[in-house]
Amino acid sequence: MEALVINGGMPLHGSVPISGAKNAVLPILAATVLHGGKYVLCNCPDIADVRTAVEILQTLGAQVTRVGDVLSVDTRDLCGYMIPGRLMLQMRASVLFLGPLLARHGRAVLTLPGGCPLGHRPIDLHLQTMSQLGAAVTLVEEQIRCHGPVLHGGTVCFPFPSVGATENAIMAAVACHGSVTIHNAAKEPEICDLAAFLQAMGAEIKGVGTHTLYITGGMPLHDADYTIMPDRIETATYLCAAAACGGEVTLQGAHSDHLIPVIQTLRQAGCTIEEQDGITIRSDAVLTSVEEIETAPYPGFPTDAQAPVMAALLRARGKTRFSETVFEQRFAHVPQLRRFGADIRLSGAAAVVSGVETLVPARTEACDLRAAAALVIAALQTQGESRIFGLKHLDRGYDNPERKLSSLGASIRRAQ
Ligand code: UD1
Repeated sequence: MEALVINGGMPLHGSVPISGAKNAVLPILAATVLHGGKYVLCNCPDIADVRTAVEILQTLGAQVTRVGDVLSVDTRDLCGYMIPGRLMLQMRASVLFLGPLLARHGRAVLTLPGGCPLGHRPIDLHLQTMSQLGAAVTLVEEQIRCHGPVLHGGTVCFPFPSVGATENAIMAAVACHGSVTIHNAAKEPEICDLAAFLQAMGAEIKGVGTHTLYITGGMPLHDADYTIMPDRIETATYLCAAAACGGEVTLQGAHSDHLIPVIQTLRQAGCTIEEQDGITIRSDAVLTSVEEIETAPYPGFPTDAQAPVMAALLRARGKTRFSETVFEQRFAHVPQLRRFGADIRLSGAAAVVSGVETLVPARTEACDLRAAAALVIAALQTQGESRIFGLKHLDRGYDNPERKLSSLGASIRRAQ
């Protein structure tokens, strides 16, 4: 079985480029369905989720080619409106094609999406939004059918600022006959990136970066070129690796203003972080525990960074409490981290890490994307050989992590 073989215990030194954001490129690829046109998207990470999104576009009839980090997408002949269950199951973000397909063809047929097992992950807010904008929506035996030849304007009010539902609402709203106001919208940087791409296509969206969005539907759309923002969770992951292993690492192209709570946490733990020309972190690998970390929608502490930060603090002096408020089951990495000798006590939606002197090498299997990153960070802190299995999770969201970590001096290779 394929595994990452890691011989830890070395500090990290050097500089790595941060790839384009997974959570921005996925909705942007879905948005290319809205208008039959040609798009050039730069800084697209080469990760499994992007390959899945490209396969969905191709299945629907689009032409997509990749040269380096540039994806050229031609959706002029896209005529499909059904996404096969096989592709829907590969990632939750497949559901982001719902709004664009409905807007383009007046109908969409999908199955319930897959994705990381983070507890109950309904898509009720996505479906309610489509109904509120005038579509007839049915869900029978895991098949979703939406029919709405004419979407009208209106008001959408989310009980919780869901990232994906906000993105689907924005994309459907762009094609509505009338204006749409979205209350309690999510305001993650990736949503701003999607909005900027849609604006480059001619859409009129106001309130970007706030909890209330105003969209003038029906504006004529056109072709667009766009550069995807840097991935803030990949950035957080490399910051955590450097914090835990020690050394000095520069993350080229990283935006520190997207990661304020993570940077504050790592500074509190004892790292020095400079926010100029990317982000540079210095650490002596002797960390201290921090105040309680509670995940929350942006600009709060990102739930996607919870597992990597936990892995970075496994040897920090003292106790650190993590509270998870976004997903109901996001501590699946805890039993795997304990295999490295970590002392973590779980109690409901909280986990308390008591720093240990040393971690020991382990053979572990990743169970979701960010858990996989946490296991790599734990392994990098041990003296001796660790093996991480379950790489399909890591590969969904990290562009060539073994090349990037090797370039920083880590001993890490992929083996069968
Ligand atoms: C997105 C990100 C994911 C991140 C998450 C939270 C992408 C591709 N993925 O996922 O990396 O961890 O935001 O920052 O951008 N919910 C409902 N009903 C819905 C939709 C969501 O109850 O219809 C709930 C979810 O179960 C969860 C919470 O809302 O408890 C947050 O989910 P949401 O913000 O929608 O996350 P995703 O868009 O799935």
